[in-house]
Amino acid sequence: MKQLRLIIVEDSEDDTILLLHQLQKAGYDSDHVRVETAEELRSVLENGSWDLIISDHALPCFSAPEALSVLNNSSKDLPFIIVSSVIGEEVAVAAMKAGAHDYIMKNNLARLAPIVERTLYDAGVRAERKKVREALQESEDRFRRLAENAQDLIYRIRLIPEMCYEFISPSVKEFTGYNPDDYYQNPRIAFNSVHPDDRHIFEASMLGKRSFDSPLILRWYHKNGSTVWAEHRNVGIYNDQGKLIAIEGISRDITDRILSEKKLKTSHAQIEALSNRILNAMEDERARLARELHDELGQALTAVKLDLQLLGDKLEISNDRRDRLQQTIDLVDYTINMVRRQSVSLRPPALDDMGLLPAIREMVRGFMKRTGINTVIEENGFSRRMSRHVETALYRCVQESLTNVTRHAEAQKVVVEFKQEKNSLWLNIIDDGIGFEPERQKISADSIGLTGMHERIKLLGGEFEIDSSPGEGTRIMIRLPCQGLSYKETGGAEDESTTRR
Ligand SMILES: Nc1ncnc2c1ncn2[C@@H]1O[C@H](COP(=O)(O)OP(=O)(O)OP(=O)(O)O)[C@@H](O)[C@H]1O
Ligand SMILES: [Mg+2]
Repeated sequence: MKQLRLIIVEDSEDDTILLLHQLQKAGYDSDHVRVETAEELRSVLENGSWDLIISDHALPCFSAPEALSVLNNSSKDLPFIIVSSVIGEEVAVAAMKAGAHDYIMKNNLARLAPIVERTLYDAGVRAERKKVREALQESEDRFRRLAENAQDLIYRIRLIPEMCYEFISPSVKEFTGYNPDDYYQNPRIAFNSVHPDDRHIFEASMLGKRSFDSPLILRWYHKNGSTVWAEHRNVGIYNDQGKLIAIEGISRDITDRILSEKKLKTSHAQIEALSNRILNAMEDERARLARELHDELGQALTAVKLDLQLLGDKLEISNDRRDRLQQTIDLVDYTINMVRRQSVSLRPPALDDMGLLPAIREMVRGFMKRTGINTVIEENGFSRRMSRHVETALYRCVQESLTNVTRHAEAQKVVVEFKQEKNSLWLNIIDDGIGFEPERQKISADSIGLTGMHERIKLLGGEFEIDSSPGEGTRIMIRLPCQGLSYKETGGAEDESTTRR
């Protein structure tokens, strides 16, 4: 049985029984209430939940049109069927216009059940549609609230039959100084507000010639003359034939980000230029100091030594004094050697005279002598000379790496490896020491060796990598692109005669 909650507006008990009987025959189990006045109807409508009203047309104190008016004034939306023995066509049409859903003559009650069935079905459909409409309205209201309060710009542009804005959020005023209404009335404003150099991108996007996968960055002119950088993320809406019919999107003002990026780029370039100058100045200063130590101090000390020896030969002095003189000569000799060593370590003459590999061989010989650590140079047939900047940078990297091995690695063996592969020169310095965790190294004023190496290599357009972990030794990997390694290409105008000692 189908459940039915029914209000019957009827003064006749018998007619009510007849109605219910018809419905029962059609499989309805009706829970009903019979009313005869407007007050009764109002009361049952307010206090119950109902599926249907069946109303007689004319009662002694009430009527179907009055019952309809009570229903229409209530908050309920119920199907209303008039069942009457006397109803003219005009009255029936008027009742239908007032909201009745159907009418039947009492002498044709066999139609009642099918009409109830159809009316209930229609009511169900109506209720469903109402729910959908309300949900749609609610979601549209929600979208509008969000869009209208969003800082980002939200829009939908219809492209056919001609371009127009279906929606553009009020934040457009911040972007361009125009109101949404300006865009609704004249969509060309959008095109004219785009920076001339970016218009072709905007146009390509509007024509669907540009993929919507990546964001679009455009410059917009604000009414006040300023330029706004905006990042647009668009989605294309296509019809069944695959034609682009609309674009929906969201734009964000990224002017601050772009300006900061530009500032950052400029300051990176400035820092790079500064490090370049500092490193060059440092090398020049080292070379000057080395030259002065060697040429001036070294030669002066040699002269002192010769004079002392001459004095010793010529002077008649006691053995004690001769011993003292000899000690002084030995001290001067020691100082001469020390000055020479300092001079070499400041700027090894071999680096300028014979090139990188001989200078490194000399450095490695000294390193092994001092530390006793077995060190191998793998040259792999590498013999080319490179510009002074490149040779100096690589020399300093090996020097710093070997110093680090002495100070931190506790290594048994070191390999200094040169390799040339296709368009790259590789320099690896590998030790089998205790290793460390490079990513844990903090930048500090006390530890600038690795950072300095990195900086030197970066300035030459190369790559610098450290592969190390505790207990696994350390591998410093340097790759330089071959292009630009040779004389003049890296360090700018450089006069070899002035830089070589
Ligand atoms: N070959 C190595 N084996 C083990 N640890 C190393 C090695 N090279 C570097 N380290 C670690 O990395 C740290 C940073 O090295 P870096 O050369 O930058 O600075 P530093 O040697 O401490 O000081 P300096 O500025 O005088 O070079 C070192 O303190 C050490 O802990
Ligand atoms: Mg160091």
